[in-house]
Amino acid sequence: MPEPLNVDEFEAAARARLTEPVYDYYAGGAEDEVTVRENRAAFQRIGLRYRVLVDVSERDTTSSILGTPLSFPVILAPTALHRMAHAEGEAATARAAAAAGVLMTLSSISSTPMEDVAAAAPGGAKWFQLYHYSNREISEELISRAHVAGYEAIVLTADAPLLGRRERDLRHPFAIPDGIEAVHFKIRPRTSGVNDSPLSDFLNQPSINWTDLEWVHAASPLPVLVKGIVRADDAKRALDEGCAGIWVSNHGGRQLDTSIPTASALPEIVAAAEGRVPVIVDGGIRRGTDILKALAMGATAAAIGRPQLWGLAVGGQVGVEKVLELLREELSLAMALAGCRTIGEIDASLIA
Ligand code: GLV
Repeated sequence: MPEPLNVDEFEAAARARLTEPVYDYYAGGAEDEVTVRENRAAFQRIGLRYRVLVDVSERDTTSSILGTPLSFPVILAPTALHRMAHAEGEAATARAAAAAGVLMTLSSISSTPMEDVAAAAPGGAKWFQLYHYSNREISEELISRAHVAGYEAIVLTADAPLLGRRERDLRHPFAIPDGIEAVHFKIRPRTSGVNDSPLSDFLNQPSINWTDLEWVHAASPLPVLVKGIVRADDAKRALDEGCAGIWVSNHGGRQLDTSIPTASALPEIVAAAEGRVPVIVDGGIRRGTDILKALAMGATAAAIGRPQLWGLAVGGQVGVEKVLELLREELSLAMALAGCRTIGEIDASLIA
């Protein structure tokens, strides 16, 4: 098979290597998958007002987030169970992120213990994603292990009080393959249910509310970001609660189908944040131009979820590195063609 030329071709190559239930679990979304498609389409619909006759022979894609340098403004979004994509799982992803100079957010539904992921890429920047549990001891233990293992922030996922209805997973039905476990949880999930995915055992937390965010803040020696926000009032409330960053996301269209695409939500969140904290956006980022648009709308960084899994499935650590390098090169070219030499020069005037 020829070397994939873009993220979609990585997806096609990954699909050929994965079992159908695993591919569908990664690729799929809730119900009619309207939001999965719209996240992407919303970025594609934005037109770029490029600038001409700028000397772009030297370009610099470097940036930073919360004091962490990035080789380009992309971070890895938390995605579950990397060992389903490649035997080396999250350790390979972490090594790739470190080699590429980007930050990795490890999912709490990791198939590799967070300490081993940290040890695999000692110099790599990493955050830890948390689903909060009504059994606070579980959250407390995960936060404290993340702190000890050198994770630099906690990312609280707020958009999943219950698992979205992912019909692809129900149809197979999806089960975590033998020999792979969500290692941070002591429970072995049920294999399947007619109405329910085994993942709901780790995710369902229907009582989660703002007091839990307060609790996470109090329990965490690390800065806390909130992920899953698509409205300005929620962003403001998160800021009032002392959040270190806002992560605009609808969980890649895996939760509430027909939710607003993240590219549409981003401007009001950026306005609400008033430059006080970084704003991250994920959902449908597949091209350097998508990253450029996210930055032009005021995001500090764009996050990628599924693309890292496609790279991992295709080539382990090297595959993830290739996906990141591809996106960095696409961004650099898009900057050149839009008349931007640095990340700082990417501004709102580029958006129609
Ligand atoms: C886990 O976060 C999932 O979306 O499956």
